[in-house]
Amino acid sequence: MKTLNINSKRLNQTLSELGTIGSTSQGMQRLAFTQYDIEARDMTLSLMSGAGLNTRIDTAGNIIARKEGTSPDLAAIALGSHIDTVPNGGKYDGALGVIGAIEVAQILEDTQTKLRHPLEIVVFTNEEGTRFKRWLFGSRAMAGLLEPDDETAADEEGIPMSSRLGDIGGNMLQISKAPRGRSEIAAYFELHIEQGPELHQSGIPIGVVTGITGRWVYGVEIIGVANHAGTTPMHGRRDALVSASQLVLAVQSLASELEICRVGTVGNIQSYTNAANVIPGRISLGVEFRDVDMRCLAEADQEFHKIAKQIEQTEGVNITITRFENTESVQINQSMQNLVEQATDLTGLNYKHLPSGAGHDAQAMANITDAAMVFVPSVNGISHAPDEYSTPEDCANGAQVLLNLLMLADERV
Ligand code: HGY
Ligand code: MN
Ligand code: MN
Repeated sequence: MKTLNINSKRLNQTLSELGTIGSTSQGMQRLAFTQYDIEARDMTLSLMSGAGLNTRIDTAGNIIARKEGTSPDLAAIALGSHIDTVPNGGKYDGALGVIGAIEVAQILEDTQTKLRHPLEIVVFTNEEGTRFKRWLFGSRAMAGLLEPDDETAADEEGIPMSSRLGDIGGNMLQISKAPRGRSEIAAYFELHIEQGPELHQSGIPIGVVTGITGRWVYGVEIIGVANHAGTTPMHGRRDALVSASQLVLAVQSLASELEICRVGTVGNIQSYTNAANVIPGRISLGVEFRDVDMRCLAEADQEFHKIAKQIEQTEGVNITITRFENTESVQINQSMQNLVEQATDLTGLNYKHLPSGAGHDAQAMANITDAAMVFVPSVNGISHAPDEYSTPEDCANGAQVLLNLLMLADERV
């Protein structure tokens, strides 16, 4: 196998340039479908053309950049990730996988290296699912995993996601054209920051991902009785925020004390009156549970509904729970893990195996092809926050392993 080396300086320069798009004093605001997202997509498209790739946008708005191989009958090897961020997010989540993949393509171009397989680089639409709550939208579309809720998704103001899809070149009316299969994609590799503390704490520079977590997400509506904060006696109040607080603590204890599932989080809360002198009558919450073992999520679901029933009875409120995301966990198969190990061995770097607590486009793509993920350390395990940081050296290590992985796979798959 030809030995090629990525250009660390160029990789990290391009990464920081992408990091300026949507950057504010509170962190990254490059949410899917925003002007920032569109600007970053334009930057990515021109980088891809510069690396000798032909680009197109599928009906899900995914950017698909392609360079033919010497054996046209072979299915493509795809590299990819996402460039949309969470609100107040970081500069590396998703971005490293896309810029790392483009750096790999640029090295092939610079050295006139021809692969046997076609190479594809994919930027997936709306991985985070913040505004329209349909995370992994682009990769699930490509994997044929969309649900009716994806096509009818709308934001808090009722604006349909389908109307925004057009802004990035997608078309919900033609979304049925998005699915692809193993005949088109022989393997999919994703470079990503770990977003947790393990690699940084252990001082090990590369993570071989063994599996990706499942995730169940709920919307919860709590209806009590709004009333005057000064004149209403404490006894007999039906305070929706008091009930919500009990539910928030129950979600936490379900995962931390009872250990029914690995993590449980209430990430967003909204009080509809939101005034200090009004007893809250209506609260909505966003709740999620995660675990690689789907049986644990089923158990957490049961316990969660049981606790909500108890709170309804004691507080005299009405609680409606709607589960709107059920993402299955996936295992990364042994041969794919071995390929990442060999690609890392070629760098002489140390590695460790670990599951991913974060969700990734790779977990959708694993439904249609062999998928593998390469992790690099997140300093202090911080992610989805402005302090998200990975060192230029770690980013370069990850891109080098990705390049080696592609070269090995080109010979083997
Ligand atoms: O939420 C996640 O796990 C991913 O960062 N979208
Ligand atoms: Mn993320
Ligand atoms: Mn991500």
